[in-house]
Amino acid sequence: MAALKYAGMDDTDSEDELPPGWEERSTKDGWVYYANHEEMKTQWEHPKTGKKKRCAGDLPYGWEQEMDDKGQIFYVDHINKRKTYFDPRQAFTIEDIQVKPKRYDGNTAALEILQGHDLSNKVIVITGGNSGIGFETARSFALHGAHVIIACRNKTRSSKAVSLILEEWHKARVEAMTLDLASLRSVREFAEGFKARKLPLHILVCNAAVCTQPWHLTEDGLESTFQICHLGHFYLVQLLQDVLRRSAPARVVVVSSESHRFTDLVDSCGKVDLALLSPPQKEYWSMLAYNRAKLCNILFSNELHHRLSPHGVISNAVHPGNMMYTSIHRSWWLMTFLFTLARPFTKSMADERGEGPTGTCCLDLDDRGLLESLGHTY
Ligand SMILES: NC(=O)c1ccc[n+]([C@@H]2O[C@H](COP(=O)([O-])OP(=O)(O)OC[C@H]3O[C@@H](n4cnc5c(N)ncnc54)[C@H](OP(=O)(O)O)[C@@H]3O)[C@@H](O)[C@H]2O)c1
Repeated sequence: MAALKYAGMDDTDSEDELPPGWEERSTKDGWVYYANHEEMKTQWEHPKTGKKKRCAGDLPYGWEQEMDDKGQIFYVDHINKRKTYFDPRQAFTIEDIQVKPKRYDGNTAALEILQGHDLSNKVIVITGGNSGIGFETARSFALHGAHVIIACRNKTRSSKAVSLILEEWHKARVEAMTLDLASLRSVREFAEGFKARKLPLHILVCNAAVCTQPWHLTEDGLESTFQICHLGHFYLVQLLQDVLRRSAPARVVVVSSESHRFTDLVDSCGKVDLALLSPPQKEYWSMLAYNRAKLCNILFSNELHHRLSPHGVISNAVHPGNMMYTSIHRSWWLMTFLFTLARPFTKSMADERGEGPTGTCCLDLDDRGLLESLGHTY
């Protein structure tokens, strides 16, 4: 095959060999097409196999793509000082079929999961979308065409997150709206503001959280970890429930944590004790408060699913992965120390604070059900 020959590789695939008079070419963005010189026509399908292909990867080191005065693309190999009309990447073409990994694992990133999905008709709200897992989720949805609203308490940080996504793709439909989950008034204002825009809501990701922060009461008189991680989201979903139902099929994704297993909500007699949710300072242990809030996330998500799924709104709780380096640890030096120790072995996020090392890793989801909960089945 010509392409293999030009790339200095042997042709080992006779099925792929073109009939006489045909030539394999590629477009600027790497799609392979076939030119029939006898009939003076071109087509996307291989004349023998009928398969479509595209080039995999970038041009080899030292190569550059240029255009001649007839508008035809050619390639310059600066190292060997030669020119060719054959795309050297054609040596590494892959078939154009929607090949999805059979199993997702701990290295699968959100962008990979969404690969091939057009989300341009979806409106998605993500709480805490300016940072960590929320940011990677917002970014991945936006790069797949969704209209993404980052619901965030801090305008400077949310604008930075929006700009980072727009820098990556200037056509991304991403914006920020103010939401402070530590204030029920703010949650109400956010919901009213969202509803005033008459947008549908297909996916609501309840992601924002704080962990191991010192005890303090919110303006509503509730312990803040409980209110931010659970109650604020609970209220938000109540207020947006009608929009979700009108937008069905829709879904709520509640980002919880495996740590919910290390607590319960019952007293010594085995009865649910609501006083445990917003304890006074002397009974407060920050990690326990976080675990309880995460347990509430799951109980809430399950009940929500039970109530709303007959109306086309499903809800899933997600554990995103263990000790992924985000800013979740920032309130307590010990957590920062543990997250730093674990960092080489876990995923890291790049966020609007620029703390993450690569920005290429994101949701650590190793269960297909959880992946589906992030909307990739749409
Ligand atoms: N990282 C992990 O290993 C891990 C493991 C299990 C579960 N999770 C869960 O994953 C989710 C995302 O956490 P992350 O690791 O990505 O942490 P993160 O980087 O700290 O992100 C948390 C987000 O929540 C926002 N937030 C905090 N308080 C808020 C409030 N009052 N109102 C609105 N937004 C608020 C933060 O905004 P600011 O930037 O303004 O603070 C930030 O955007 C959380 O639900 C967490 O429990 C994480």
